[in-house]
Amino acid sequence: MPDRSDLVIRGGRVVDATGERQADVLVRDGVVAEVGEHSSVGRPDGARVLDAGGCIVAPGLVDLHAHLREPGDEEAETIETGARAAALGGFTAVVAMPNTEPPLDDAAVVASVLGAGRATACEVVSAGCITKGRGGEELAPMGELHALGVRIFTDDGACVTAGGVMRRALEYAHSLPGAVVAQHAEDPSLAAGGHMHEGSWSSRLGIPGRPAAAESAIVGRDILLAELTGTRVHFLHLSTADAVELVRDAKRRGAPVTAEAAPHHFTLTDAECRGFDPVFKVHPPLPTETDVAAIKAGLADGTIDAIATDHAPHVPEAKERPFEEAPPGMLGLETALALTLSELVEPGALSLRDALARLSWQPAAIAGLDAHGGPISEGRPANLCVIDPSVRWEVDPIRLASRSRNTPYAGRKLTGRVRHTVLGGEPVVVDGTAQR
Ligand code: DOR
Repeated sequence: MPDRSDLVIRGGRVVDATGERQADVLVRDGVVAEVGEHSSVGRPDGARVLDAGGCIVAPGLVDLHAHLREPGDEEAETIETGARAAALGGFTAVVAMPNTEPPLDDAAVVASVLGAGRATACEVVSAGCITKGRGGEELAPMGELHALGVRIFTDDGACVTAGGVMRRALEYAHSLPGAVVAQHAEDPSLAAGGHMHEGSWSSRLGIPGRPAAAESAIVGRDILLAELTGTRVHFLHLSTADAVELVRDAKRRGAPVTAEAAPHHFTLTDAECRGFDPVFKVHPPLPTETDVAAIKAGLADGTIDAIATDHAPHVPEAKERPFEEAPPGMLGLETALALTLSELVEPGALSLRDALARLSWQPAAIAGLDAHGGPISEGRPANLCVIDPSVRWEVDPIRLASRSRNTPYAGRKLTGRVRHTVLGGEPVVVDGTAQR
């Protein structure tokens, strides 16, 4: 008797790190059992069929950077709602950022996040703080957190400003297999009091700015510290041309660094702030057109390894405050893939496979998530997403699964959408509808 959980993903184009081919995918007991021609895969008795005609069958996407707000700000998002939004966006794994309340600098809090993420629509991986309370002074118990499975250490939302503290964190992380120290590169003494990118738009609007040098000063320093200690540094949400150039140069020298960019940094500019709408407020801030072009070029030539959402839900009351008082951050999980397809792949800046590399197997490798990112072959865990690359849709904040509504893309027409997501062999999104 065939297993009741048999699943056939029928008629799609399978795209993974090894290549692409027209094939059906048979999933059994949570793993890929067969990839082949329609006739060889067939339809075992009782198998459920997911139609993938005209679609791309890809390894599930992996987000290195999502704020799921639990514990502490469950009005904005919970692990359950964030994981659902992630699955609808094609993600099978997300790294939950530790700027929660209390922060994820303690084994018990990390264990509770991992517990809450267990039965959700997406694998939730906890990041851990670099320093206690994200205060930038005393190291968090990185070894204890690592023992629980934490691989990404970051104080995101805050920069580890003191070079000596960053050096100690890197030296300590060196002894923890697979550990990555991820930096929010914005020197607070340069960014202090700024609410948008410092440039001609900030002058015109009279909004105090954050200079690009706030980012590049830290990126430059941390490249040197990565080389000094031999420990990998990952740069979160790279947003400026200077920082991209520093990382490009560092990689040329073989420095152990990786970087990510968020969709809003390759699709929006500081000009969006002209209406004083805090939905466009984010840290690091929306940059200039030159920076956007540099981020795209960095994604195209591999300087930037990953596209990460920096999904940052905020309740409406918070985002209704005046620009200078509103918190920074914007939603990202449900629009990242479509923005990548519409703004990078469709115009020819990135091939489809390179786009999937930045969204799936490269971030999976950075986070050490071996069960995600493919390849789609026999015996591999069935963490997959099925993408309809041609469907046109309009972003409607009301229809998002996130608990919050702060998307800067309301009304924007995008091409490409997730049709199905499969997590550990279970369909968690079917025909665009969440099943968990
Ligand atoms: O805009 C941001 N919002 N940048 C961050 O680094 C933190 C995030 C948040 O938590 O809201």
